[in-house]
Amino acid sequence: GKDKELIRGSWESLGKNKVPHGVIMFSRLFELDPELLSLFHYSTNCGTTQDCVSSPEFLEHVTKVMLVIDAAVSHLDDLHSLEDFLFNLGRKHQAVGVNTQSFAVVGESLLYMLQCSLGQAYTAPLRQAWLNMYSIVVAAMSRGWAK
Ligand code: HEM
Repeated sequence: GKDKELIRGSWESLGKNKVPHGVIMFSRLFELDPELLSLFHYSTNCGTTQDCVSSPEFLEHVTKVMLVIDAAVSHLDDLHSLEDFLFNLGRKHQAVGVNTQSFAVVGESLLYMLQCSLGQAYTAPLRQAWLNMYSIVVAAMSRGWAK
């Protein structure tokens, strides 16, 4: 449908430059919630948040995040096929101390990155399309917190 077209169309260019876009997203995330930085055990090696975000370990995580988004975009027709993967990914994030409430601010940071990168192409329907996909990903990851 229309949602999928909007997501695929916008990801076509962004997906070719994953790391810089991921850096915008995570810089925003740490700006909105600096405490999330401390969940990365390697964060003690950096001075400022900007140093952190551009350190090799953080760039690696940023790349991992962008690859998950890439996988979701490629599987828009069968997001169910990612459920086991996302469940396990959720469990790993529970283990490192992430709280499911933080996914709201992650979503905000994702939208911020899209807005920065897409400019005029960032419209209300596009925003909603991404939110819809993101909420499916978050729901699947959040099952990893269930006892
Ligand atoms: C791994 C933190 C959000 C994807 C990790 C690790 C930490 C972490 C500490 C383990 C160390 C590392 O691999 O760097 C966080 C925090 C987040 C967040 C604080 C935001 C609150 C996300 C999101 C995704 C994601 C939104 C993708 C949708 C991954 C992947 C791994 C990972 C793929 C590697 C898992 C593995 O080892 O199999 N994350 N993460 N993370 N994260 Fe995140």
